[in-house]
Amino acid sequence: MPKREKVTVTTSNSEKPFYITTPIYYVNAKPHLGHAYTTIAADVAKRFNTMKPSDTFFLTGTDEHGDKIAEAAEKENSTPKEYADKISALFSDLWPQLNISNDYFIRTTDESHKKTVQNVLQDIYDKGEIYYSEYEGLYCVGCERFYQERELVDGKCPDHKKEPDRIKESNYFFKMSNYQQWLIDHINSNPDFIRPKQYKTEILSFLKEPLEDLCISRPKSRLTWGIELPFDDNYVTYVWFDALLNYVSALDYPNGENFEKFWPHAQHLIAKDILKTHAVYWPTMLKAAGIPLFNSLNVHGFWNMGDSKMSKSLGNVANPLQLADKYGVDAYRFFLMRDMVFGLDSNFSEDAIIQRINSDLANDLGNLFSRVLALSFKHFNGLVPERDPQTENEANLSLESAAMETIDEYTSSMDKFSFHNGISAVWKFISKMNKYIDENAPWQLAKEEGSELKLKTVMYNLLEGLRVVSGLIYPVMPTTSLEMQKHLGISTDKVIFDLSCLKSWNSLKSGGQLTKVKALFPRIDVKKPSGDTKPVPKKLKPELKPEISFDDFSKLDLRTATIVEAEAIPKANKLLKVTVDIGEGVNRTIVAGISKSYKPEELKGKQVIIVANLAPVKLMGEISQGMILAATDKKGFVIATFDNNIKNGATVK
Ligand code: MSP
Repeated sequence: MPKREKVTVTTSNSEKPFYITTPIYYVNAKPHLGHAYTTIAADVAKRFNTMKPSDTFFLTGTDEHGDKIAEAAEKENSTPKEYADKISALFSDLWPQLNISNDYFIRTTDESHKKTVQNVLQDIYDKGEIYYSEYEGLYCVGCERFYQERELVDGKCPDHKKEPDRIKESNYFFKMSNYQQWLIDHINSNPDFIRPKQYKTEILSFLKEPLEDLCISRPKSRLTWGIELPFDDNYVTYVWFDALLNYVSALDYPNGENFEKFWPHAQHLIAKDILKTHAVYWPTMLKAAGIPLFNSLNVHGFWNMGDSKMSKSLGNVANPLQLADKYGVDAYRFFLMRDMVFGLDSNFSEDAIIQRINSDLANDLGNLFSRVLALSFKHFNGLVPERDPQTENEANLSLESAAMETIDEYTSSMDKFSFHNGISAVWKFISKMNKYIDENAPWQLAKEEGSELKLKTVMYNLLEGLRVVSGLIYPVMPTTSLEMQKHLGISTDKVIFDLSCLKSWNSLKSGGQLTKVKALFPRIDVKKPSGDTKPVPKKLKPELKPEISFDDFSKLDLRTATIVEAEAIPKANKLLKVTVDIGEGVNRTIVAGISKSYKPEELKGKQVIIVANLAPVKLMGEISQGMILAATDKKGFVIATFDNNIKNGATVK
């Protein structure tokens, strides 16, 4: 489908429609892995919804107005439009190469988009929700927005690590503050409006402070690269007010068929950098314009390189196409979706990609597939054998309930954008099948007399399980999915990815012709990395717990304490009874599981950190009143101490 021609989606599936959007990317920098992740995730969500089956509309595009683009164009001695054309094409050309199936690619320089922006502005202005006033504020060009003092970290923009500029000028303002309580109520009564939960918490905590009105114009004396205000031609529209409206202009708001069909089912996908603009500006703009709100804002974390967010301004970006060329598009998509816990940050390294390919793809899935096909050729000449229901029942050989549980777990995770959990449900099933082969040892059955029915049944179930797997991996690895189905002899003109079809167990036709496979995913030799990229440090991958708010953290009462006594607890092989002085006048007893790492006499006199407000518990007959902080790894525990003496009972923050 041509991506730059507006197409009205007219097919009609039974499940409710699905509309998925990515942020429209700024054209001041080339696409990198961070942009690729969001766009692949949107593609996965779209493809998954087509399996329901739902009619889907997937929108991506580029954000082309504003200071940032004007500055970048100037640096290259181009006009903003020439510059935008060039970079926008880098995005639109990249997506097909990563198997992105967007239905439309919007550019904010499109005439139809500009018209929608002007219509909405005029409408809100006519309703009296926009006023003219002088303003002085702190402006970050990188974010294209004004900051409040309290949002800065050490006086700098938390994202761009730069001091914002102080700007004073007359401008138009949207009365965003009017909508504060309404927005809080909407977020509270719609639990999935912002997800995962930590981002909803973050926005609710931001909304505890008074919300300011939003400056929505820029004087042409300072910036001309933007959409002219319909009610004052001395001004252009603030880039965020222009950009956010792409989500409805692409559907031909207000009268388009696509708008009517898809807008009620809108799912936005963004990273946490643009949470506030999407969770505060956008809903209040919609409300003021009388447009119903989107369904959910789905927020993911950052891909980091080293300790910082991967970003053009920090210069630490990974080229998505280079990696996809090197490792294969499907493997690359799989890595991104499997490795990032949706909502949390992830560390990128090529080592991590190789590890995923070798273990999850080559070993778990690839080996299973080649083994089952090879056995089918060896014992049944490559034809799907017939299962025997009686043998299956007697020997408890069915894989059906495991497959059904997998599909349910997968579906509920994918619906919540919890892609890593959806994929890991499929991989649990793959391990189960690997275990099933080892336990039932078809090669052994083939040698035993009278085991023919069992052999056929075991092999049938394995092939059927692989049919289910081939369908479930479709959203993430569409090419491999088709490839597997081809080898399983499933005709590609049938609806093969439909969830109900995957759920109908025993669908594979006995007697069907299989085809031989070499390796779905060749292993990558770690000693001889292919290509020319520099060696990368081994990936540190702490499984982080979900983010907590500062309020949550402040509930912990951490204090300094000195250990005055420590003794072993009889019959407890890990526990020590430790007596500490925390400056309360009376000593406390803490039971600590550190006896494998410390002898009692080594502890005496150490100044440590304790959690002083932990509810007391009884352990091996001793009441433990708190916890001593220690770090742990494979070797055991190391207690946290201080590099200088401090009084007992001091607060640790
Ligand atoms: N133009 C605005 C968005 C307007 S939407 C109405 C913008 N553009 S951007 O080019 O900066 O893209 C930001 C988005 O790119 C993030 O929200 C995320 O989707 C993606 N990412 C950019 N860097 C990323 C990482 N390092 N990690 C994960 N995603 C990243 O903001």
